[in-house]
Amino acid sequence: MTPGTTAIGIDIGGTGIKGAVVDLATGELVSERVKLATPEHGEPDDIVEVTSQILATLSDIATNVPVGICFPAVVRNGRTMSAANVSDAWIGLEAEKLFEKALGVDIQFVNDADAAGYAESRFGAASNQPGVVMVTTLGTGIGTALLYNGVLVPNTEFGHIELDGHDAERKAAYSAKERDDLSWSKWAKRLQKYYTALEKLLSPDLFIVGGGVSKHSDQFLPLLSLKTPILPAVLRNNAGILGAAALAANDAPVRGRGGHPL
Ligand code: BGC
Repeated sequence: MTPGTTAIGIDIGGTGIKGAVVDLATGELVSERVKLATPEHGEPDDIVEVTSQILATLSDIATNVPVGICFPAVVRNGRTMSAANVSDAWIGLEAEKLFEKALGVDIQFVNDADAAGYAESRFGAASNQPGVVMVTTLGTGIGTALLYNGVLVPNTEFGHIELDGHDAERKAAYSAKERDDLSWSKWAKRLQKYYTALEKLLSPDLFIVGGGVSKHSDQFLPLLSLKTPILPAVLRNNAGILGAAALAANDAPVRGRGGHPL
């Protein structure tokens, strides 16, 4: 494999940890996707252990390539500041350093929605889209990624804006549809409120809707009435892997807004 054109991306989630080698020119996976279950309770040492097993498999295929890891938390200066569907022990942890020590390589460590959003902007539904793009992932929670002319503004966390007196993700994530047994049209009413609120805050040029449910986008996107165009994500389950790999290969590190440049 030609050095400089590939990177490894690993996507850590509440139920699974998956990784692959990515061709950065095409945005395609050039290895099998390796997936293992997230250890019960999502404790740091256990997750690091499973991640190192995945990396060991992928490093046999691609050696000395950049490694990016995405994670469901606010990540500032390599430190996890929150924890969604993993142990609270992550909060305040120097996660990037912990992984680097255990894996023996430098990594780029970023929020999962930021990785997915960056991937959509670079290789997917928002490629070549100028202006402000707001990517939302509807899953257990709501993850968001804000891009301006392809540049990522990390850690936006717009899944936690207030909606009818509640945390928005509690009302409008895909998990809320399942939990409250909502029809597509009932859920779409909540999404309507959510995206209208985002529109007011951000006046984006484009919304992208990701997460597993995006494969059923024809059931709910046509029910929304917004000023902003809204499109389904196209990279599906691989968005986190692709974005983490692509961000790792960038020259400038993504460090969050802690005083470091993007
Ligand atoms: C978290 C985000 C994360 C999103 C998707 C939210 O609950 O606050 O950091 O990106 O879930 O996993």
